[in-house]
Amino acid sequence: MDLRLDGKVALVTGASGGLGRHFAGVLAAAGATVVLAARRTEKLAEAVEEIGPGRAHAVPLDVTDPTSVTAAFEAAEAATGAVVDVLVNNAGLAKTAPALETSPQDWRTVLDTNLTGAFHVATEAAARMKAAGRAGSIVNIASIVGLRPAGAVASYAASKAGLIHLTKALALELARDDVRVNALAPGYIETDINAAFFATDAGQKLIKRIPQRRLGRMSDLDAPLLMLCSDASAFMTGAVVPVDGGHLVSSL
Ligand SMILES: NC(=O)c1ccc[n+]([C@@H]2O[C@H](COP(=O)([O-])OP(=O)(O)OC[C@H]3O[C@@H](n4cnc5c(N)ncnc54)[C@H](OP(=O)(O)O)[C@@H]3O)[C@@H](O)[C@H]2O)c1
Repeated sequence: MDLRLDGKVALVTGASGGLGRHFAGVLAAAGATVVLAARRTEKLAEAVEEIGPGRAHAVPLDVTDPTSVTAAFEAAEAATGAVVDVLVNNAGLAKTAPALETSPQDWRTVLDTNLTGAFHVATEAAARMKAAGRAGSIVNIASIVGLRPAGAVASYAASKAGLIHLTKALALELARDDVRVNALAPGYIETDINAAFFATDAGQKLIKRIPQRRLGRMSDLDAPLLMLCSDASAFMTGAVVPVDGGHLVSSL
């Protein structure tokens, strides 16, 4: 079993903060040359400094703009001198509101980013892997909410359910090109974004419904991520891997 990524180029979308920034560090530590992509380029520059220039590069990317997606891959190839072997399709956002209070604009923003954006990035990556005749691994960052709904996030839940089915459709189409496509479905992971909520009574109640009675830590995702990115999962494609402390099997 080999979880190393030496000699591979890995591109992580949404790498300016949160999970994406963490994933970039994990992949670099496993030996990959990493390309960090997002809209906030000043945050990417800080992350590149921390990981180590030479081992990390930053490219601007807005996943909702197909022109920006193509430009990001061209910039990644120019910076690394190679085609991207591993894509972590992580960029995403949520708008919290009951379904009946979700505006058409918020619905579009969530679907455009989490589903359509992920489609543009995955197909751009796969086309380049295929043209170069290189094996590749695409890991879509979904969510347990794409497998079982939660309240007040209908647009997010629909986008992640779509991403999970897109994962399977792409896996089927790309298997003969040696491009694997899998999804990681995290449960609730503690990040700066949600720390304040989980400190509240409502947040603490939610934690009590997780069978393991705790939030996930970013490091809980490291081994599953490396497994899906590396040759350790050479015979896995179209799989969805939840990492959630048992949340999906919580008692009804
Ligand atoms: N945290 C959790 O508990 C959890 C659980 C399950 C799944 N997830 C998923 O994990 C992923 C990362 O979440 P997170 O918690 O780390 O959230 P986060 O801290 O808000 O990070 C989201 C990232 O996505 C990027 N992004 C958003 N829109 C973009 C766009 N149009 N183009 C390019 N990049 C864009 C942002 O970068 P810029 O603003 O700089 O562009 C940012 O780096 C998301 O897909 C999320 O759904 C998170």
